[in-house]
Amino acid sequence: MKATMDKLVNLCKGRGIIYPGSEIYGGMGNTWDYGPVGVEIKNNIKRAWWKRFVQESDNSYGVDAAILMNSRVWEASGHTTSFSDPKMDCKFCKTRHRADNLIEAHSKGKVNPDTMTNEEMEAYIREHHVTCPKCGKSDFTPIRTFNLMFETSRGVTEEGQNVVYLRPETAQGEFVNFLNVQRTTRTKVPFGIGQIGKAFRNEITPGNFIFRTIEFEQMEHQWFCKKGTDGEWYDYYKKAAWDFLVDLGFDPSHLRYKDHDKLAHYAKAACDIQYLFPIGWSELNGIHNRTDYDLSRHSEFSGKNMEYADPVTGEKYIPYVIEYSIGADRLMLAALTEAYDEELLDNGETRIVMHFSPAIAAYKAAVLPLQKNLGERARAIYRRLAKSFMCTYDEAGSIGKRYRRQDEIGTPYCVTVDFDTEKDGTVTVRDRDSMQQIRIDADKLEEYISDKIRF
Ligand code: GAP
Repeated sequence: MKATMDKLVNLCKGRGIIYPGSEIYGGMGNTWDYGPVGVEIKNNIKRAWWKRFVQESDNSYGVDAAILMNSRVWEASGHTTSFSDPKMDCKFCKTRHRADNLIEAHSKGKVNPDTMTNEEMEAYIREHHVTCPKCGKSDFTPIRTFNLMFETSRGVTEEGQNVVYLRPETAQGEFVNFLNVQRTTRTKVPFGIGQIGKAFRNEITPGNFIFRTIEFEQMEHQWFCKKGTDGEWYDYYKKAAWDFLVDLGFDPSHLRYKDHDKLAHYAKAACDIQYLFPIGWSELNGIHNRTDYDLSRHSEFSGKNMEYADPVTGEKYIPYVIEYSIGADRLMLAALTEAYDEELLDNGETRIVMHFSPAIAAYKAAVLPLQKNLGERARAIYRRLAKSFMCTYDEAGSIGKRYRRQDEIGTPYCVTVDFDTEKDGTVTVRDRDSMQQIRIDADKLEEYISDKIRF
Protein backbone atom coordinates (compact mmCIF):
# COMPACT_ATOMS: atom_id res chain seq x y z
CA MET A 1 0.00 0.00 0.00
CA LYS A 2 1.46 3.35 -0.99
CA ALA A 3 -0.68 5.82 0.92
CA THR A 4 0.66 7.61 3.97
CA MET A 5 -1.48 9.97 5.99
CA ASP A 6 0.62 12.97 4.90
CA LYS A 7 0.25 12.11 1.23
CA LEU A 8 -3.51 11.73 1.58
CA VAL A 9 -3.94 14.97 3.53
CA ASN A 10 -1.92 16.89 0.94
CA LEU A 11 -3.68 15.37 -2.03
CA CYS A 12 -7.10 15.98 -0.45
CA LYS A 13 -6.28 19.61 0.29
CA GLY A 14 -4.79 20.29 -3.13
CA ARG A 15 -7.51 18.62 -5.16
CA GLY A 16 -10.63 19.91 -3.40
CA ILE A 17 -11.40 16.67 -1.59
CA ILE A 18 -11.04 17.69 2.09
CA TYR A 19 -9.79 20.94 3.68
CA PRO A 20 -8.92 21.64 7.33
CA GLY A 21 -12.01 23.01 9.14
CA SER A 22 -12.17 26.83 9.69
CA GLU A 23 -8.77 27.06 8.02
CA ILE A 24 -8.60 30.85 7.63
CA TYR A 25 -8.92 31.14 11.44
CA GLY A 26 -6.08 28.72 12.05
CA GLY A 27 -8.31 25.65 11.96
CA MET A 28 -10.17 23.80 14.69
CA GLY A 29 -8.81 20.51 15.97
CA ASN A 30 -10.39 17.36 14.57
CA THR A 31 -12.75 19.12 12.17
CA TRP A 32 -12.57 18.91 8.38
CA ASP A 33 -14.56 20.39 5.51
CA TYR A 34 -15.37 18.43 2.38
CA GLY A 35 -14.64 20.27 -0.88
CA PRO A 36 -16.34 19.94 -4.29
CA VAL A 37 -14.71 16.59 -5.05
CA GLY A 38 -14.90 15.19 -1.52
CA VAL A 39 -18.59 15.90 -1.06
CA GLU A 40 -19.37 13.91 -4.21
CA ILE A 41 -17.30 10.92 -3.10
CA LYS A 42 -18.85 10.92 0.36
CA ASN A 43 -22.37 11.25 -1.06
CA ASN A 44 -21.64 8.32 -3.37
CA ILE A 45 -20.41 6.25 -0.43
CA LYS A 46 -23.61 7.03 1.47
CA ARG A 47 -25.75 6.27 -1.59
CA ALA A 48 -24.02 2.91 -2.12
CA TRP A 49 -24.58 2.00 1.55
CA TRP A 50 -28.23 3.07 1.48
CA LYS A 51 -28.82 1.14 -1.74
CA ARG A 52 -27.32 -2.02 -0.28
CA PHE A 53 -28.79 -1.92 3.22
CA VAL A 54 -32.12 -0.12 2.76
CA GLN A 55 -33.15 -0.21 -0.90
CA GLU A 56 -32.03 -3.75 -1.70
CA SER A 57 -32.58 -5.26 1.75
CA ASP A 58 -35.72 -7.39 1.77
CA ASN A 59 -37.42 -5.75 4.71
CA SER A 60 -35.57 -2.57 5.68
CA TYR A 61 -36.81 0.99 5.99
CA GLY A 62 -35.05 4.31 6.31
CA VAL A 63 -35.52 7.08 8.87
CA ASP A 64 -33.98 10.49 9.44
CA ALA A 65 -34.43 11.22 13.13
CA ALA A 66 -33.71 14.50 14.90
CA ILE A 67 -30.17 15.12 16.12
CA LEU A 68 -31.48 16.66 19.34
CA MET A 69 -33.44 14.13 21.34
CA ASN A 70 -35.20 14.14 24.69
CA SER A 71 -32.44 13.85 27.31
CA ARG A 72 -34.13 10.78 28.79
CA VAL A 73 -33.09 8.93 25.63
CA TRP A 74 -29.46 9.21 26.74
CA GLU A 75 -30.30 8.13 30.27
CA ALA A 76 -32.03 5.06 28.90
CA SER A 77 -29.19 4.26 26.53
CA GLY A 78 -26.61 4.61 29.32
CA HIS A 79 -24.70 7.41 27.58
CA THR A 80 -25.09 9.96 30.40
CA THR A 81 -23.44 7.62 32.89
CA SER A 82 -20.99 5.54 30.94
CA PHE A 83 -20.04 7.09 27.61
CA SER A 84 -16.55 8.12 28.59
CA ASP A 85 -12.90 7.58 27.82
CA PRO A 86 -10.09 7.02 30.35
CA LYS A 87 -8.05 10.22 30.05
CA MET A 88 -4.76 11.15 31.68
CA ASP A 89 -2.67 14.31 31.39
CA CYS A 90 1.08 14.43 30.96
CA LYS A 91 2.22 16.38 34.04
CA PHE A 92 5.16 17.74 32.12
CA CYS A 93 3.78 19.08 28.80
CA LYS A 94 0.10 19.10 29.88
CA THR A 95 -1.17 17.19 26.83
CA ARG A 96 -4.12 14.88 27.34
CA HIS A 97 -4.12 11.24 26.27
CA ARG A 98 -6.32 8.19 26.35
CA ALA A 99 -4.75 5.63 28.67
CA ASP A 100 -5.91 2.75 26.46
CA ASN A 101 -4.29 4.34 23.40
CA LEU A 102 -0.99 4.85 25.25
CA ILE A 103 -0.93 1.16 26.20
CA GLU A 104 -1.85 -0.03 22.74
CA ALA A 105 0.85 2.10 21.12
CA HIS A 106 3.49 1.15 23.71
CA SER A 107 2.82 -2.58 23.41
CA LYS A 108 2.48 -2.31 19.61
CA GLY A 109 -0.99 -3.81 19.86
CA LYS A 110 0.13 -6.86 21.87
CA VAL A 111 -1.67 -5.79 25.06
CA ASN A 112 -5.42 -5.25 24.88
CA PRO A 113 -6.43 -2.43 27.28
CA ASP A 114 -10.14 -3.17 26.67
CA THR A 115 -9.91 -5.95 29.22
CA MET A 116 -8.26 -3.76 31.91
CA THR A 117 -9.73 -1.69 34.72
CA ASN A 118 -8.56 1.92 35.18
CA GLU A 119 -6.31 0.82 38.06
CA GLU A 120 -4.74 -1.89 35.91
CA MET A 121 -4.11 0.60 33.11
CA GLU A 122 -2.45 3.06 35.52
CA ALA A 123 -0.27 0.27 36.90
CA TYR A 124 0.75 -0.89 33.42
CA ILE A 125 1.70 2.65 32.37
CA ARG A 126 3.75 3.13 35.57
CA GLU A 127 5.49 -0.24 35.50
CA HIS A 128 6.34 -0.14 31.80
CA HIS A 129 7.44 3.50 31.88
CA VAL A 130 5.07 4.36 29.06
CA THR A 131 6.05 7.77 27.77
CA CYS A 132 4.12 10.81 26.53
CA PRO A 133 4.05 10.78 22.70
CA LYS A 134 4.57 14.56 22.71
CA CYS A 135 7.43 15.20 25.18
CA GLY A 136 8.77 11.72 25.90
CA LYS A 137 8.42 12.01 29.73
CA SER A 138 6.69 9.36 31.80
CA ASP A 139 4.73 11.25 34.45
CA PHE A 140 0.95 11.19 34.15
CA THR A 141 -2.00 12.20 36.34
CA PRO A 142 -4.32 9.41 37.51
CA ILE A 143 -7.02 8.40 35.03
CA ARG A 144 -10.13 10.56 34.95
CA THR A 145 -13.19 9.78 32.91
CA PHE A 146 -14.75 12.44 30.66
CA ASN A 147 -18.15 12.07 29.13
CA LEU A 148 -17.84 12.33 25.37
CA MET A 149 -21.24 13.90 24.75
CA PHE A 150 -21.45 17.54 23.69
CA GLU A 151 -23.91 19.40 25.87
CA THR A 152 -25.95 22.42 24.99
CA SER A 153 -29.00 23.97 26.55
CA ARG A 154 -32.52 24.73 25.50
CA GLY A 155 -34.73 27.62 26.58
CA VAL A 156 -34.60 31.41 26.57
CA THR A 157 -34.29 32.20 30.25
CA GLU A 158 -31.55 30.82 32.41
CA GLU A 159 -33.93 29.16 34.88
CA GLY A 160 -35.81 27.55 32.04
CA GLN A 161 -32.74 26.01 30.51
CA ASN A 162 -32.57 22.29 30.08
CA VAL A 163 -29.55 20.28 29.09
CA VAL A 164 -29.73 18.72 25.65
CA TYR A 165 -27.06 16.64 23.99
CA LEU A 166 -25.83 16.49 20.42
CA ARG A 167 -26.40 12.82 19.65
CA PRO A 168 -23.21 10.74 19.97
CA GLU A 169 -24.65 8.02 17.72
CA THR A 170 -27.56 7.78 15.30
CA ALA A 171 -28.69 4.40 16.62
CA GLN A 172 -31.06 5.76 19.29
CA GLY A 173 -33.14 7.51 16.60
CA GLU A 174 -33.76 4.08 15.14
CA PHE A 175 -34.61 2.43 18.47
CA VAL A 176 -37.09 5.12 19.57
CA ASN A 177 -38.89 4.81 16.21
CA PHE A 178 -39.16 1.02 16.32
CA LEU A 179 -42.93 1.06 17.01
CA ASN A 180 -43.62 3.92 14.58
CA VAL A 181 -41.89 2.17 11.71
CA GLN A 182 -43.37 -1.23 12.47
CA ARG A 183 -46.92 0.13 12.65
CA THR A 184 -46.79 2.54 9.71
CA THR A 185 -45.17 0.06 7.35
CA ARG A 186 -47.30 -2.81 8.75
CA THR A 187 -44.22 -4.96 8.54
CA LYS A 188 -43.39 -8.06 10.54
CA VAL A 189 -40.33 -8.97 12.57
CA PRO A 190 -37.64 -9.53 11.34
CA PHE A 191 -37.14 -6.14 9.77
CA GLY A 192 -34.53 -3.41 9.68
CA ILE A 193 -34.24 0.34 10.15
CA GLY A 194 -31.36 2.21 8.54
CA GLN A 195 -30.25 5.76 9.05
CA ILE A 196 -27.43 8.04 7.91
CA GLY A 197 -26.69 11.16 9.89
CA LYS A 198 -24.34 13.31 11.89
CA ALA A 199 -23.06 12.27 15.30
CA PHE A 200 -20.88 14.28 17.68
CA ARG A 201 -18.26 13.20 20.20
CA ASN A 202 -15.96 15.35 22.29
CA GLU A 203 -12.87 13.38 21.29
CA ILE A 204 -9.69 14.89 22.65
CA THR A 205 -7.15 12.47 21.24
CA PRO A 206 -5.39 13.06 17.90
CA GLY A 207 -7.83 12.50 15.13
CA ASN A 208 -5.54 11.11 12.43
CA PHE A 209 -7.20 13.16 9.71
CA ILE A 210 -10.83 12.04 9.29
CA PHE A 211 -10.32 8.76 11.16
CA ARG A 212 -11.53 10.28 14.43
CA THR A 213 -13.32 13.61 14.37
CA ILE A 214 -15.62 15.40 16.77
CA GLU A 215 -18.39 15.66 14.17
CA PHE A 216 -18.90 12.77 11.77
CA GLU A 217 -21.53 10.85 9.90
CA GLN A 218 -22.66 7.38 10.81
CA MET A 219 -24.46 4.85 8.66
CA GLU A 220 -26.28 2.54 11.06
CA HIS A 221 -28.64 -0.32 10.49
CA GLN A 222 -30.60 -2.09 13.22
CA TRP A 223 -32.11 -5.48 12.46
CA PHE A 224 -34.98 -6.39 14.79
CA CYS A 225 -35.39 -10.15 15.13
CA LYS A 226 -36.74 -12.80 17.44
CA LYS A 227 -34.54 -14.14 20.22
CA GLY A 228 -33.16 -17.47 19.07
CA THR A 229 -32.67 -16.27 15.49
CA ASP A 230 -30.21 -13.56 16.58
CA GLY A 231 -27.07 -15.71 16.17
CA GLU A 232 -27.92 -16.43 12.57
CA TRP A 233 -28.63 -12.75 11.81
CA TYR A 234 -25.43 -11.68 13.54
CA ASP A 235 -23.45 -13.95 11.18
CA TYR A 236 -25.49 -12.65 8.26
CA TYR A 237 -24.60 -9.01 8.98
CA LYS A 238 -20.93 -9.84 9.61
CA LYS A 239 -20.81 -11.24 6.10
CA ALA A 240 -22.99 -8.51 4.55
CA ALA A 241 -20.73 -5.79 6.01
CA TRP A 242 -17.65 -7.55 4.62
CA ASP A 243 -19.22 -8.12 1.18
CA PHE A 244 -20.21 -4.46 0.93
CA LEU A 245 -16.56 -3.43 1.34
CA VAL A 246 -15.28 -5.99 -1.15
CA ASP A 247 -17.93 -4.90 -3.66
CA LEU A 248 -16.73 -1.31 -3.20
CA GLY A 249 -13.33 -2.49 -4.39
CA PHE A 250 -11.50 -3.25 -1.12
CA ASP A 251 -8.81 -5.90 -1.31
CA PRO A 252 -9.86 -8.58 1.24
CA SER A 253 -6.24 -8.85 2.42
CA HIS A 254 -6.62 -5.28 3.77
CA LEU A 255 -9.62 -6.29 5.89
CA ARG A 256 -9.97 -8.53 8.92
CA TYR A 257 -12.55 -9.41 11.56
CA LYS A 258 -11.70 -8.63 15.15
CA ASP A 259 -13.94 -10.05 17.86
CA HIS A 260 -14.29 -7.85 20.94
CA ASP A 261 -12.44 -9.29 23.93
CA LYS A 262 -14.57 -7.37 26.41
CA LEU A 263 -18.30 -7.25 25.73
CA ALA A 264 -20.58 -4.47 26.94
CA HIS A 265 -22.79 -5.84 29.72
CA TYR A 266 -25.82 -6.02 27.40
CA ALA A 267 -24.06 -7.43 24.33
CA LYS A 268 -24.11 -11.09 23.42
CA ALA A 269 -21.51 -10.81 20.64
CA ALA A 270 -19.57 -7.99 19.03
CA CYS A 271 -16.94 -7.71 16.36
CA ASP A 272 -15.28 -5.06 14.24
CA ILE A 273 -14.09 -5.18 10.71
CA GLN A 274 -10.67 -3.61 10.77
CA TYR A 275 -8.94 -2.02 7.80
CA LEU A 276 -5.23 -1.57 7.23
CA PHE A 277 -5.22 2.24 7.49
CA PRO A 278 -1.96 4.22 7.17
CA ILE A 279 -1.98 4.25 11.02
CA GLY A 280 -2.17 0.42 11.08
CA TRP A 281 -5.03 -2.03 11.56
CA SER A 282 -7.96 -0.10 13.05
CA GLU A 283 -11.72 -0.33 13.39
CA LEU A 284 -13.67 0.48 10.27
CA ASN A 285 -17.08 -0.75 11.38
CA GLY A 286 -18.82 -2.69 14.12
CA ILE A 287 -21.42 -5.46 14.23
CA HIS A 288 -23.11 -6.02 17.57
CA ASN A 289 -25.70 -8.37 18.95
CA ARG A 290 -27.34 -5.91 21.37
CA THR A 291 -29.96 -8.39 22.62
CA ASP A 292 -33.25 -6.79 23.75
CA TYR A 293 -31.36 -4.24 25.86
CA ASP A 294 -32.13 -1.05 23.91
CA LEU A 295 -35.83 -1.60 23.41
CA SER A 296 -36.24 -2.85 27.00
CA ARG A 297 -34.49 0.22 28.38
CA HIS A 298 -36.63 2.57 26.25
CA SER A 299 -39.70 0.69 27.41
CA GLU A 300 -38.64 1.15 31.02
CA PHE A 301 -37.64 4.83 30.74
CA SER A 302 -40.49 6.02 28.50
CA GLY A 303 -43.22 3.88 30.03
CA LYS A 304 -44.22 2.85 26.50
CA ASN A 305 -44.61 -0.85 25.83
CA MET A 306 -42.07 -1.70 23.11
CA GLU A 307 -43.28 -5.28 22.64
CA TYR A 308 -44.00 -6.68 19.23
CA ALA A 309 -47.11 -8.81 18.87
CA ASP A 310 -46.69 -11.66 16.40
CA PRO A 311 -49.82 -11.49 14.20
CA VAL A 312 -49.81 -15.26 13.57
CA THR A 313 -49.06 -16.74 16.99
CA GLY A 314 -50.19 -13.78 19.11
CA GLU A 315 -46.95 -14.07 21.03
CA LYS A 316 -45.62 -10.80 22.49
CA TYR A 317 -41.93 -10.13 22.90
CA ILE A 318 -39.24 -7.47 22.76
CA PRO A 319 -37.08 -8.18 19.69
CA TYR A 320 -33.35 -8.64 19.76
CA VAL A 321 -31.26 -6.17 17.74
CA ILE A 322 -28.31 -6.83 15.44
CA GLU A 323 -26.58 -3.52 14.84
CA TYR A 324 -24.26 -2.79 11.95
CA SER A 325 -22.58 0.59 12.25
CA ILE A 326 -20.00 2.28 10.05
CA GLY A 327 -18.71 5.85 9.89
CA ALA A 328 -19.11 7.49 6.46
CA ASP A 329 -15.98 9.58 7.06
CA ARG A 330 -13.97 6.61 8.27
CA LEU A 331 -15.07 4.65 5.22
CA MET A 332 -14.06 7.66 3.12
CA LEU A 333 -10.56 7.51 4.65
CA ALA A 334 -10.37 3.79 3.97
CA ALA A 335 -11.53 4.35 0.37
CA LEU A 336 -8.90 7.08 -0.12
CA THR A 337 -6.19 4.81 1.31
CA GLU A 338 -7.28 1.87 -0.81
CA ALA A 339 -7.49 3.93 -4.00
CA TYR A 340 -4.17 5.76 -3.71
CA ASP A 341 -1.44 4.63 -6.07
CA GLU A 342 1.81 5.98 -7.48
CA GLU A 343 2.73 4.44 -10.81
CA LEU A 344 6.05 4.72 -12.56
CA LEU A 345 5.38 5.42 -16.23
CA ASP A 346 7.48 4.38 -19.25
CA ASN A 347 8.68 7.96 -19.66
CA GLY A 348 10.13 7.91 -16.14
CA GLU A 349 7.41 10.13 -14.64
CA THR A 350 5.28 9.08 -11.71
CA ARG A 351 1.54 9.42 -11.91
CA ILE A 352 -0.63 9.61 -8.82
CA VAL A 353 -3.89 7.84 -9.49
CA MET A 354 -6.91 7.15 -7.30
CA HIS A 355 -8.38 3.80 -8.33
CA PHE A 356 -11.82 4.42 -6.80
CA SER A 357 -14.63 2.11 -7.74
CA PRO A 358 -16.44 4.09 -10.49
CA ALA A 359 -19.55 4.00 -8.30
CA ILE A 360 -17.93 6.25 -5.68
CA ALA A 361 -15.69 8.40 -7.91
CA ALA A 362 -16.70 12.07 -7.70
CA TYR A 363 -16.99 12.61 -11.44
CA LYS A 364 -17.77 9.71 -13.71
CA ALA A 365 -16.36 11.48 -16.75
CA ALA A 366 -14.27 14.51 -17.59
CA VAL A 367 -14.95 16.14 -20.93
CA LEU A 368 -11.81 17.64 -22.44
CA PRO A 369 -11.65 19.51 -25.75
CA LEU A 370 -8.28 18.90 -27.38
CA GLN A 371 -8.14 22.60 -28.21
CA LYS A 372 -10.15 25.54 -26.97
CA ASN A 373 -11.81 26.08 -30.36
CA LEU A 374 -13.52 22.68 -29.90
CA GLY A 375 -15.13 23.99 -26.73
CA GLU A 376 -18.62 24.49 -28.06
CA ARG A 377 -18.94 20.89 -29.21
CA ALA A 378 -17.32 19.60 -26.00
CA ARG A 379 -19.64 21.66 -23.78
CA ALA A 380 -22.68 20.25 -25.56
CA ILE A 381 -21.43 16.71 -24.82
CA TYR A 382 -20.71 17.68 -21.20
CA ARG A 383 -24.22 19.12 -20.74
CA ARG A 384 -25.81 16.00 -22.14
CA LEU A 385 -23.81 13.65 -19.90
CA ALA A 386 -24.38 15.85 -16.83
CA LYS A 387 -28.11 15.07 -17.04
CA SER A 388 -27.29 11.45 -16.15
CA PHE A 389 -24.29 11.66 -13.78
CA MET A 390 -21.69 14.02 -12.31
CA CYS A 391 -19.16 15.15 -14.91
CA THR A 392 -16.51 17.79 -15.04
CA TYR A 393 -15.20 19.93 -17.87
CA ASP A 394 -11.62 21.10 -18.30
CA GLU A 395 -10.01 23.00 -21.15
CA ALA A 396 -6.96 24.43 -19.32
CA GLY A 397 -3.46 23.14 -20.02
CA SER A 398 -2.03 20.32 -22.10
CA ILE A 399 -4.11 17.19 -22.51
CA GLY A 400 -1.47 15.21 -20.59
CA LYS A 401 -1.73 17.56 -17.58
CA ARG A 402 -5.51 17.39 -17.72
CA TYR A 403 -5.40 13.57 -17.66
CA ARG A 404 -3.12 13.72 -14.58
CA ARG A 405 -5.50 16.05 -12.75
CA GLN A 406 -8.38 13.63 -13.39
CA ASP A 407 -6.24 10.64 -12.34
CA GLU A 408 -5.52 12.38 -9.03
CA ILE A 409 -9.21 12.71 -8.20
CA GLY A 410 -10.04 9.29 -9.59
CA THR A 411 -12.25 10.18 -12.58
CA PRO A 412 -12.70 6.82 -14.33
CA TYR A 413 -13.24 8.14 -17.87
CA CYS A 414 -11.80 11.06 -19.80
CA VAL A 415 -13.70 11.97 -22.94
CA THR A 416 -11.57 13.86 -25.44
CA VAL A 417 -13.21 15.88 -28.16
CA ASP A 418 -10.93 16.40 -31.18
CA PHE A 419 -11.10 17.33 -34.84
CA ASP A 420 -12.45 13.90 -35.85
CA THR A 421 -15.42 14.54 -33.56
CA GLU A 422 -16.38 17.37 -35.87
CA LYS A 423 -16.14 15.04 -38.87
CA ASP A 424 -17.60 11.71 -37.72
CA GLY A 425 -19.17 12.39 -34.30
CA THR A 426 -16.78 10.07 -32.40
CA VAL A 427 -14.78 10.86 -29.25
CA THR A 428 -11.86 9.23 -27.45
CA VAL A 429 -12.60 7.57 -24.10
CA ARG A 430 -9.55 7.03 -21.90
CA ASP A 431 -9.75 4.51 -19.10
CA ARG A 432 -8.16 5.81 -15.85
CA ASP A 433 -6.67 2.50 -14.73
CA SER A 434 -5.33 1.02 -17.95
CA MET A 435 -4.83 4.37 -19.74
CA GLN A 436 -6.14 2.56 -22.84
CA GLN A 437 -8.12 4.70 -25.25
CA ILE A 438 -11.01 3.69 -27.45
CA ARG A 439 -13.04 5.64 -29.96
CA ILE A 440 -16.77 5.63 -29.68
CA ASP A 441 -19.75 7.46 -31.06
CA ALA A 442 -20.51 10.49 -28.84
CA ASP A 443 -24.20 9.46 -28.89
CA LYS A 444 -23.31 6.14 -27.19
CA LEU A 445 -21.27 7.75 -24.36
CA GLU A 446 -24.08 7.98 -21.84
CA GLU A 447 -24.98 4.31 -22.18
CA TYR A 448 -21.30 3.22 -22.22
CA ILE A 449 -20.46 5.05 -18.99
CA SER A 450 -23.75 4.40 -17.15
CA ASP A 451 -23.17 0.70 -17.58
CA LYS A 452 -19.78 0.87 -15.87
CA ILE A 453 -20.64 3.04 -12.87
CA ARG A 454 -23.53 0.99 -11.53
CA PHE A 455 -23.07 -0.37 -7.95
N1 GAP B 1 -24.17 2.69 17.62
C1 GAP B 1 -22.92 2.06 17.80
C2 GAP B 1 -21.78 2.95 17.69
O1 GAP B 1 -21.91 4.16 17.60
P1 GAP B 1 -19.18 2.96 17.61
O2 GAP B 1 -18.21 1.83 17.48
O3 GAP B 1 -18.97 3.91 18.72
O4 GAP B 1 -20.60 2.28 17.70
C3 GAP B 1 -19.57 3.10 15.05
O5 GAP B 1 -19.22 3.76 16.23
C4 GAP B 1 -18.70 3.56 13.90
O6 GAP B 1 -18.72 4.99 13.79
C5 GAP B 1 -17.21 3.21 14.07
O7 GAP B 1 -16.95 1.89 13.64
C6 GAP B 1 -16.56 4.25 13.17
O8 GAP B 1 -16.61 3.83 11.82
C7 GAP B 1 -17.47 5.47 13.36
N2 GAP B 1 -16.92 6.40 14.37
C8 GAP B 1 -17.03 6.31 15.71
N3 GAP B 1 -16.45 7.37 16.31
C9 GAP B 1 -15.97 8.15 15.34
C10 GAP B 1 -15.26 9.41 15.31
N4 GAP B 1 -14.96 10.07 16.42
N5 GAP B 1 -14.91 9.91 14.10
C11 GAP B 1 -15.21 9.27 12.95
N6 GAP B 1 -15.89 8.10 12.92
C12 GAP B 1 -16.26 7.54 14.08
